[in-house]
Amino acid sequence: MKLISKVLDKLPTPSSKDLAMDLGTANTLIYVKGKGIVLDEPSFIAINTQNKSIHAVGMEAKVMWGRAPREIRIHRPIRDGVINDLEPAQLMIKHFISKTLSRIRILKPRFVICVPSGITQVEMKAVIDASIQCGAGKVHLIEEPMAAAIGAGLAVDRPQGFMVVDIGGGTTDVAVISMGAVANSQSARVAGDEMDKAIVQYVKENHHMIIGDLEAEEVKIQVGSAYSQDEGESYPVRGRDLVKGVPKEVRLNPGQVAEAIQGPLQQILEIIREVLNDTSPELQSDIHRGGIFLTGGGSLIQDMDRYIEGYIGVPVRKVEDPLTSVVKGAGRALEEFQRFKKAFIT
Ligand SMILES: Nc1ncnc2c1ncn2[C@@H]1O[C@H](COP(=O)(O)OP(=O)(O)OP(=O)(O)O)[C@@H](O)[C@H]1O
Ligand SMILES: [Mg+2]
Repeated sequence: MKLISKVLDKLPTPSSKDLAMDLGTANTLIYVKGKGIVLDEPSFIAINTQNKSIHAVGMEAKVMWGRAPREIRIHRPIRDGVINDLEPAQLMIKHFISKTLSRIRILKPRFVICVPSGITQVEMKAVIDASIQCGAGKVHLIEEPMAAAIGAGLAVDRPQGFMVVDIGGGTTDVAVISMGAVANSQSARVAGDEMDKAIVQYVKENHHMIIGDLEAEEVKIQVGSAYSQDEGESYPVRGRDLVKGVPKEVRLNPGQVAEAIQGPLQQILEIIREVLNDTSPELQSDIHRGGIFLTGGGSLIQDMDRYIEGYIGVPVRKVEDPLTSVVKGAGRALEEFQRFKKAFIT
């Protein structure tokens, strides 16, 4: 009897297997219904090219980027918010899901997957197929800014407009939300990764030195600023001298990083302007009153809110915990499925 109850305890209830996933260019997060966020890992997978086995996944694979031996290939299977490399993506998703769900399944789970607002039919099909391959019974897609708005606790179902700007790793999503649905949105492939590339280019041009993407990301996270004029505290970056070919170190301060990332930042402003211009006067007036809600890892750049506010002329509010707001909102939509039904892409 005791043994039976022990076994039964281990069996998940049917609803506990439903999950929400933010399959991001930089990070994958999984929310399990009734439990909350159970996984938060970089979207990386390392595969042994000789025997095709998985060598490492998530953070373990990310730290190998640019450092792996020849037989190990590191993949970033999500590019610009969508599946770019099908087989590694499926292996990565399967691995993450197997870490979060019990192997014993009575019913096939429901998956809520977050996608960028500009997703094409083909890209949607890829994400649905991958989810089914990974054991999903039903798949529901939700646009990332909508999920972020729900995650930030905004009253999305009221007849009142909100603007959400989600600056992720691969894409910046700008959306106007009203009455439980997306009224207007745009997604552009310029976000954190483009800022890293701009820093690599800046260091090349100004210091005649080649640095890796991860080194650029680190300096962006440590001293990245949207429009700092002051020199501030500098941070070291290490790489290879372009001329001499030897290891070299330089230090970058917030002002230099701000200068380096101006290109991608200006492009982000342009998308916000376009979406605003394309919005009805009623919703525009709501946005002026309520402000722009800023989320995604890119919103953690120092002074990003003041920068957007200064150029766009609308108050900007940073959401709490911008790296988890999308999956939290998708999780909430899963928990209160009937209430948020309109939020899903039909
Ligand atoms: N403190 C920080 N300062 C600046 N940038 C940061 C910080 N922390 C994370 N980032 C950047 O945020 C980005 C990742 O954000 P996020 O996890 O929201 O992206 P994602 O959801 O994986 O990508 P996407 O939504 O585009 O598919 C990376 O480019 C990362 O370098
Ligand atoms: Mg994201």
